[in-house]
Amino acid sequence: MNDPDWASGIDPNQASVARVYDYLLGGVHNFSADRDIARTLEVIEPRARAITAANRAFLVRAVRYLAEEAGIRQFVDIGSGIPTQGNVHEIVHRVDPAARVVYVDRDPVAIAHSTALLAGEPNAAVIQADLTRPADILGHPAVRKMIDFDEPVALLLVAVLHFITDEQDPSGILAELTAPLVSGSQLAVSHGTHRQETGEAVTKVYRRAVAQGEPTLRTAEEIGAFFTGFDLVDPGLVHGPLWRPDAPDDVPDDPSSFWFLAGVGRKP
Ligand SMILES: C[S@@+](CC[C@H](N)C(=O)[O-])C[C@H]1O[C@@H](n2cnc3c(N)ncnc32)[C@H](O)[C@@H]1O
Repeated sequence: MNDPDWASGIDPNQASVARVYDYLLGGVHNFSADRDIARTLEVIEPRARAITAANRAFLVRAVRYLAEEAGIRQFVDIGSGIPTQGNVHEIVHRVDPAARVVYVDRDPVAIAHSTALLAGEPNAAVIQADLTRPADILGHPAVRKMIDFDEPVALLLVAVLHFITDEQDPSGILAELTAPLVSGSQLAVSHGTHRQETGEAVTKVYRRAVAQGEPTLRTAEEIGAFFTGFDLVDPGLVHGPLWRPDAPDDVPDDPSSFWFLAGVGRKP
């Protein structure tokens, strides 16, 4: 069978973070290598799909807050992934069609689908760049063209910082990315956190089989430190489902078993 257009030049036997995540969200832009990994993850963590959906739901609520309440009109979404339900520009453009969104990912399938989705969309763009090279992102012509650094910017790093190892210096990367942001800018982060055996087993699966995919799970203290220079808005850094739920019924009985922490901070 021929590969679909979006898959040309991609090794289908090598699972990718973006495609495993797409599968867990119910998407179709993945290969059997990705599905095998996702199913292995589901054996270790039977609620892998629910946790993935809860992460995506945090992103949607955070972007709504940023556009509606905080009045942000410029978004840079790094580690944006394969387009799915609730893409940032769709949420933001319901509030203001003139708001601007730049998506950033390193994964070629994420870039191919985002490019197709954004064709003819003047106020959103996607660039292929690596979070470990912040200067490439800040200096990219599409970023320079679409983002006015004299105005507040929302920087989204949702479920991506845990793919940056300590050796890659996530704090240094954040310092570089947030340095040009003016007062009133905001930072939204979700990040996998420790959950004893489950976390270690999941880390092992990624290490074995997913390209550049080994997650570094971090403590609340370590994740909180990523907000250096920002004031966390209510309710602070919390397990994802607890971050401004739309309705009390949306909060599961045991939110800490959704083992990622989420928060939004404002640059004073
Ligand atoms: C788990 S997905 C999260 C997608 C989206 N942010 C969300 O929360 O729904 C992580 C994404 O980060 C991307 N990613 C991982 N490491 C990256 C890096 N160093 N630079 C850019 N993108 C990266 C992956 O390709 C993948 O699309």
